[in-house]
Formats: sequence, structure tokens, C-alpha cells
Amino acid sequence: MSDQKNKIPFNEDNYTHNIQRNHERTLDRRGFMKTLVGAAGVFAVSSLPWGAVAAKELMGLSDKEYQHKKITDVSKIGIGEAVDFKFPGEHDDAILIRLSEEKYVAYQNACTHLRCPVFWVKEEGEMICPCHHGKFDVTTGAPTAGPPRRPLPEIQVKVENDAVYAVRVKRYEA
Ligand code: FES
Repeated sequence: MSDQKNKIPFNEDNYTHNIQRNHERTLDRRGFMKTLVGAAGVFAVSSLPWGAVAAKELMGLSDKEYQHKKITDVSKIGIGEAVDFKFPGEHDDAILIRLSEEKYVAYQNACTHLRCPVFWVKEEGEMICPCHHGKFDVTTGAPTAGPPRRPLPEIQVKVENDAVYAVRVKRYEA
């Protein structure tokens, strides 16, 4: 057995001879600073109002105009009558009520309590949710009785060429 084989190539070699403490510390500090700057950047971006903007958009709290959609011909809805329709999507139930010769109101008619459909009861002049006896003012959509606390989202309508069109959904701040 030769001595050569077991000879340690460097003094006190433990395979860490190429690591320099000072240099490592510099790297550590640099890495830490990078992390700090990164964290500050993330904080700065996250504290911008993007979150609020996104939340507002997701929750649909702002007024929104959609592609206008014909609800009915004027001749097909008498004064005091109502017509069901969908707006803006095919699953968004809505109701149009003709209050006078010229005045129409429309709402998304999922009750703001637990989303049961709200009906127009002509004889009582009220919009009623049968689930828990909720009631809404037909001229404003505001709740007037029962558990609902928020108004029905109003749909802006326009009359054009003897037909009524849905134009926009008016949202309310929570
Ligand atoms: S769901 Fe309409 S009152 Fe409860």
C-alpha cells in the first residue's frame, strides 16, 4: 500500500477547501437583498387597487352595457302586464313590467335573499318572492318586506321601432 494513495491533496482538505467564507457571506447578503426587493415589489403590486378592481368586475358591481336584446313588441305587452325574458345571459332570468303607456321597468328577478324567482302580482301592484314572503317595490326594485335586504338588479330598457330592448344591468354597491 503506498502512502501516495491515502495522501490528502490539500492541507486540512475536507472537500470544502474551495469555499471562501467571505465570498459566501457576500452572496448571502446579495441573495437576501434580492429577496427583500422582490418581496417589496410583490407588496407594492398587491397593494395597488387591482384587487378591488378585479373583485368589482367579478362581482359585477359596476353598471354594464351588453349587446341590446329585444324583449318583446310593444303591442304584445299591455299596461300592467309582465313578460319574462333572459338577460344578459341565457340563464339570467329577468322580468319586464309595463307600468303605463310609456313607462317600463325591468329587473333580474332572482330574489336577493336566496335567489327564488320573484313574480309580478298585478292585483297587488307588487313584486313578490313566494319563498319567504319577500316583497320589492316595482318602481325601484328595493325590498319592502321580508328577508331581502338588497334591491333587485335593474335592467335599463329602451323602446325603439315599437319594441322593447334590454340595454344595461344596473348594479348596486353592496
Ligand atoms: S328567497 Fe326570496 S324571500 Fe327568501
